[in-house]
Amino acid sequence: MPSRTQSRSPYMEFSKLRTGAKYNLAASGIMSYPLAELPVRIDELEINGTDAYGYAPLNERLARLNGVPQECVVAAAGTSMANHLAMAATVEPGDEVLVEHPTYQLLVSVAQYLGATIRYFERRMEDGFRIDPEEVERQITPRTKLIVITNLHNPSGAIVDKNTLRALDDITSKANALVLVDEVYLEALFEQRPRPALHLGERFLVTSSLTKAYGLSGLRCGWVLAAPELAQRMWHIHDLYGVNAAHPAELLSVIALDNLDRIATRAKELIATNRRVLDAFLASRCDLEYHRPEFGTLIFLKPRFGRVDELCRLLEKYETCVAPGSYFDVPEGFRVGIGGDPEMTREGLSRLGLALDGLGKSS
Ligand SMILES: Cc1ncc(COP(=O)(O)O)c(C=O)c1O
Repeated sequence: MPSRTQSRSPYMEFSKLRTGAKYNLAASGIMSYPLAELPVRIDELEINGTDAYGYAPLNERLARLNGVPQECVVAAAGTSMANHLAMAATVEPGDEVLVEHPTYQLLVSVAQYLGATIRYFERRMEDGFRIDPEEVERQITPRTKLIVITNLHNPSGAIVDKNTLRALDDITSKANALVLVDEVYLEALFEQRPRPALHLGERFLVTSSLTKAYGLSGLRCGWVLAAPELAQRMWHIHDLYGVNAAHPAELLSVIALDNLDRIATRAKELIATNRRVLDAFLASRCDLEYHRPEFGTLIFLKPRFGRVDELCRLLEKYETCVAPGSYFDVPEGFRVGIGGDPEMTREGLSRLGLALDGLGKSS
């Protein structure tokens, strides 16, 4: 029997219970998109659907959005369930999963829950959080079934380029393994978004959703892109978790996908505004180390002096929170999200500056 000792996620518990500060820089995606701004009429909604394996109009749109055939798409409740399905379809108890470090903690928890042994390869700040294919090759073993990465990288926001993905394809083809790319933050490149990694070859499984770039978390509109046989396996595994998705959410997801340009316009403006504020904040500080990502809503920062747990205590006084690096197994840093309301973000960063000024000065 696989151990169930890992069947909880400290990061998720933090995110659900301890990010209620007035100035929340711990959130990672774009702030909520209001239902009132979606062009939807109540008579367009219905409680129950009929389709067995996903709602056909939604499957069609997800295939079109990603430029893949429909048999490569598995609809899922957010990237979270997409990741779970992708791993459940590819990993057996006792297999090894090779995961980037640092990473989104849930990716590790799910692989452990499924009975996998975890190995890591490093993505280092001083190297721009780049993936070094040579290091991946050193860490892969004959028991490795799956390599797991995020693109954009959580927590740093760094992008993984096509050459690196190709190198991972080569490595896994020699090792007979697969690569899971969680692309949920890649959506935040909008029209500049590269094609999903599945286009590079069938060793890739891609997961994503409308959560992070569009502020539509509540729709739980996620998906996996995979080779047809794997996709089929995931639909069957999905049967074990539930009969169907919530149909009103499927209908709203179709409407959201038909209006994605308008939703993206708001998100792009928000990111552009908040990036200017972030840049000004970074320029004003010489006590932080970081790699400034080109895209998206995340940045990982390391104070040059003082401890992050002390910083977090000081931030409480300023009604501000960040995501402590301890949740990414990098306790000497912290993640800041810039997808929130611009005024809140501006004030939050200014309060972060005050807390940094006080670091090491408290008794
Ligand atoms: C890398 C990554 N994948 C997946 C998720 C969860 O996404 P969703 O809300 O679509 O389930 C998150 C949320 O923080 C994330 O950072």
